[in-house]
Amino acid sequence: MVTAQRRYGFGLIGCGVIAPTHATALAGLPNAHLVAVADIVPEKAKAFAGEHGVAWEADIGALLARPDIDVVSVCVPSGLHAEIGIRAARAGKHLVVEKPIDITVAAADRLLDAAASAGVLLTVISQHRFSAGLRRLRELVDQGRLGRLILGDAIVKWYRSQGYYDSGDWRGTWAVDGGGALMNQGVHYVDLLCWIMGTVDEVTALCATQAHTIEVEDVALALLRFRSGAVGLLQASTATYPGLPERLEISGTGGSVIVEAGDIRLAELADEKGDAGAYGSKITSSPLPAGTAAADPAAVASDAHQAQLADFLAALDSGGQPSVTGEEARACVAVIRAVYDSARSGRPVAPANPRR
Ligand SMILES: NC(=O)c1ccc[n+]([C@@H]2O[C@H](COP(=O)([O-])OP(=O)(O)OC[C@H]3O[C@@H](n4cnc5c(N)ncnc54)[C@H](O)[C@@H]3O)[C@@H](O)[C@H]2O)c1
Repeated sequence: MVTAQRRYGFGLIGCGVIAPTHATALAGLPNAHLVAVADIVPEKAKAFAGEHGVAWEADIGALLARPDIDVVSVCVPSGLHAEIGIRAARAGKHLVVEKPIDITVAAADRLLDAAASAGVLLTVISQHRFSAGLRRLRELVDQGRLGRLILGDAIVKWYRSQGYYDSGDWRGTWAVDGGGALMNQGVHYVDLLCWIMGTVDEVTALCATQAHTIEVEDVALALLRFRSGAVGLLQASTATYPGLPERLEISGTGGSVIVEAGDIRLAELADEKGDAGAYGSKITSSPLPAGTAAADPAAVASDAHQAQLADFLAALDSGGQPSVTGEEARACVAVIRAVYDSARSGRPVAPANPRR
């Protein structure tokens, strides 16, 4: 007997820049559909609902009261994720929360506790994990083909104009953005770096505001010590004109891989290439990189969001965990807060370790 696949109703809160990516991603999934949206500015919800052919509610309470909504996508400004997510969890809704999970470890913990007590599932968007290059890199690491990991660098040299920061009163603020180039943009690659390299135990950082009138950093640099003994480098900027392809550079005793804009740019593996000699050997791999959101946040393609949503729905169906867990997202915020603390104090800082 063939059982019909469950179709999940989604509600979306926060109809701004990233909301259409969620709506488009959901529209392409057979087992999900966007039911209704809400925004603190009701006209934005109404206009968005009209464009996407869905219902809208004048307030969040009305959206959360709808029995035809199973999952809520939290697309409000970063420092409001826990507050809105907790309300949704208490209403019994599963949660897809945009990155970062929130802007402090304490807020992340409140949200994770609320989701656990309500018995709802939660994932935090980290769509780059679902790109082909990153999946391949993770496979190579899992197969042991890079050997023991020794050095992991994440470089996110993007560009955002002053106009971008001026386009929303929360952007570039400590209170609601929670930081700048690292908390908002670099967070993607903090997640990827931790996903590949593991837990970060120590951070030594330097931050600066170079090219914008904002209170937060537009350049963040950090040296990382991983629990495994590996070390790494993190760079995030929104001041690097015109926005360069983001890179993850991972080296182990068995080889090096560079992922650029989601594609493998270079994979030099000792088990294929053999001995590199006393002075190293010539690079032989060089596939071309693809598109990136380096300069245009609205250009985020929906495919990767769609893959993450599909993964989340599969977890709901199976009763398992999604690929990107709330605990992992919390660990990213702990690393980022440690970067800010270290930049302020001039000392190495241990991130508030993820709960087990
Ligand atoms: N995954 C990605 O690549 C990606 C890209 C862009 C943004 N984001 C994340 O998405 C979130 C939103 O960013 P954005 O650029 O869309 O912001 P935005 O300012 O364009 O949109 C936020 C929307 O939330 C609404 N809002 C604010 N407070 C609200 C509240 N209390 N209740 C209901 N609605 C409220 C605003 O009116 C606005 O329409 C941020 O956390 C950001 O980090 C992720």
